[in-house]
Amino acid sequence: MPKLDAATLDRLAWVDRQERADPLLSDEVRAHELRVARLSARLAGAAGMDGPRQAQVFTAARFHDAGKLSVPSAVLFKPGRLTADERLQMARHTALGVEILADAAGALQDDIHDAVRYHHERYDGNGYERLAGERIPLVARIVAIADVYDALSATRSYKDGMAPGDALAKMAGDRGAFDPFLLRAFVARRLRDAPPDAVTPGQRAALEAFSLSDPMDDVAPGGPVTIKRSGHRIFWFVDGGGNRKQSAVMHPDGRMQQVGARETGGPASDPRAATGPGAGSEPGLRRAGPESP
Ligand SMILES: [Fe+2]
Repeated sequence: MPKLDAATLDRLAWVDRQERADPLLSDEVRAHELRVARLSARLAGAAGMDGPRQAQVFTAARFHDAGKLSVPSAVLFKPGRLTADERLQMARHTALGVEILADAAGALQDDIHDAVRYHHERYDGNGYERLAGERIPLVARIVAIADVYDALSATRSYKDGMAPGDALAKMAGDRGAFDPFLLRAFVARRLRDAPPDAVTPGQRAALEAFSLSDPMDDVAPGGPVTIKRSGHRIFWFVDGGGNRKQSAVMHPDGRMQQVGARETGGPASDPRAATGPGAGSEPGLRRAGPESP
């Protein structure tokens, strides 16, 4: 497992100290980040990631809201509705988080950066930075699901939490928001983990059916990616003759394999190059190998 370097550990420890030092930050932000980290690691496991990779996802999710340290307390803990200007200040917490952690460098920096910066992206492209689909880093798609579930289900100082069945039903009804395979894996895992009385029999039946449904139900056909029920993703490109061809396969645990090449061994590569502008002329991926040695 790649190790965090000293500079990264120092920076993360500094964030942890800042969050612990303020009772409101500790109760509202740090506690939320820790719950999201546990949910994210479990989802990573349900998606097929091994223990070390789950640990990396945990660490990245643990610090996903670090930017809230730079949001004024009057906005962060304001009871009631935020004004448009205050909402903008809140929305800056992803960029501010990247600034706070900018000194961090090391094997996990990509994961931490991606979780911090992109956890408010939506799969349908209607998130903060309007990144869509497979362009959103895998770790951020995991954290986004865990983050919304915790936001809905956790009881906070200003609101009661939804019952798990209600939260899952709401998320399953907003499928454009989430990675289709990961959302189904998350629902299946939460149904297993939730106490029996936290989900009504009707909700359980509907959610089980949803978790077994085809992820492609949520994706327009003919696009740059096909998501299998197994979680494998097939990336497509159009060759010079206008033919649609496979360029790469991403395994459920994030390992990337170019078609016609041997499987690469590392954690998730960046599939954005495969689906980005100009990808049609290039069957290979810019970063098909492991992210870190
Ligand atoms: Fe956030």
